[in-house]
Amino acid sequence: MIAGKKIVLVVTGGIAAYKTLILARLLIKAHAEVRVVMTHAATEFVTPKTFSVLTQHDVLTDLFSDQTQADISHIELADWADYMLVVPATANFMAKMVQGIADDAASSVVIARHTPIAIAPAMNLNMYQNPAVVRNLEQLKADGVHIIEPVVGDLAEGYQGKGRLPEPEDLYAQIEVLMERDLGTPVLTGKRVLISAGGTKEAIDPVRYIANRSSGKMGYALAQAAVQAGAQVDLVSTVQLPAPMFTNVIAVETADQMLAAMQAHFEQADIVIMAAAVADYRVANPANQKIKKDPDQKGLTLNLVENPDILAQLGAKKTHQYLVGFAAETQNLLEHAQAKLIKKQADLLIANDVSNHDIAFGSDNNEVTLLSKNDAPKHLPLTDKLTLSHQILEIIAAQMEE
Ligand SMILES: Cc1cc2nc3c(=O)[nH]c(=O)nc-3n(C[C@H](O)[C@H](O)[C@H](O)COP(=O)(O)O)c2cc1C
Repeated sequence: MIAGKKIVLVVTGGIAAYKTLILARLLIKAHAEVRVVMTHAATEFVTPKTFSVLTQHDVLTDLFSDQTQADISHIELADWADYMLVVPATANFMAKMVQGIADDAASSVVIARHTPIAIAPAMNLNMYQNPAVVRNLEQLKADGVHIIEPVVGDLAEGYQGKGRLPEPEDLYAQIEVLMERDLGTPVLTGKRVLISAGGTKEAIDPVRYIANRSSGKMGYALAQAAVQAGAQVDLVSTVQLPAPMFTNVIAVETADQMLAAMQAHFEQADIVIMAAAVADYRVANPANQKIKKDPDQKGLTLNLVENPDILAQLGAKKTHQYLVGFAAETQNLLEHAQAKLIKKQADLLIANDVSNHDIAFGSDNNEVTLLSKNDAPKHLPLTDKLTLSHQILEIIAAQMEE
């Protein structure tokens, strides 16, 4: 979605402005056309020259001066754009956006826009928590401005807090999602998608647990693809990966917690995808204290009990939901998956062969076969998990139309 798009990149006067140079490079590498506008304060942190060399275009910094004037005016630039970004966005610039103040080139371009816009606020923690800034952020959201949230981390002042501009690669990933949603032809607009991701963790004692090799990457890729396709996403997750915007992440650990979270969000969901790897068994009585090695005993026996079958329980109570399960198998893949489809009352079963380490668990790529009640099995060949997720969601959207 970024390729071929005309992006106006507004840089304002924050310490993080140096990261915008790398962001500009990433956008250009993705074949976007980038034009930069800078506030006067921004030029104190990075030079227009650097942006102009990177983008191969003049940088607009001044509304009036002929000397620094770019080859295009602020109105022409606003008309030219497909998308606008403000990175970083200072507290001052956000206040100006809220009030509609247009007293320099950057604020004039922004106020003359007809495109979607995303801003990435970055500032000191105390500035970020100031009631005026909080109020302005709320107003900007209400005005339809996308906010790319700052992250918690080391601030320029030498302490930690929320206010740090995300790294350029993370900014890029968020921008990709936003542009796909705003400029693409989303197939899941208005739909609510509930996804589970990651492997469950079942406590043995306070420091040890039984886990599995699921990385959560497939669930997160599905969440990102669903957001890009226009959906609102609830993601029940056992892992801590960066979640795409518009995703409501519900953190869980155990199968019981996952079941409760899935049930809590099930009613309002249109599509439910169980991509998590749920442990079949858990320890019957996890120890309250760390289990010590007993020199008199040769081994340790754990008594396991069965976990709830989340997919089957959701299948039994579904009304309007389109229910999708995953079958991770190491042998007789399609046979087991077909049986699971029927038994769990799923609408679609995504079968993947986890005996192949080049794909599935932990890998960035996957190859799957889709099984549904009425259609013949459909093989989706090896590709990255995000592309695969888009393919899967397109098939789901088409089947829901039928
Ligand atoms: C060293 C230094 C670092 C600054 N960093 C930030 C910052 O990260 N975020 C912010 O909102 N303002 C920051 N400021 C304050 C802005 O530069 C100041 O509010 C300025 O008027 C913003 O102008 P602009 O919004 O037109 O770019 C910083 C100022 C200085 C001197």
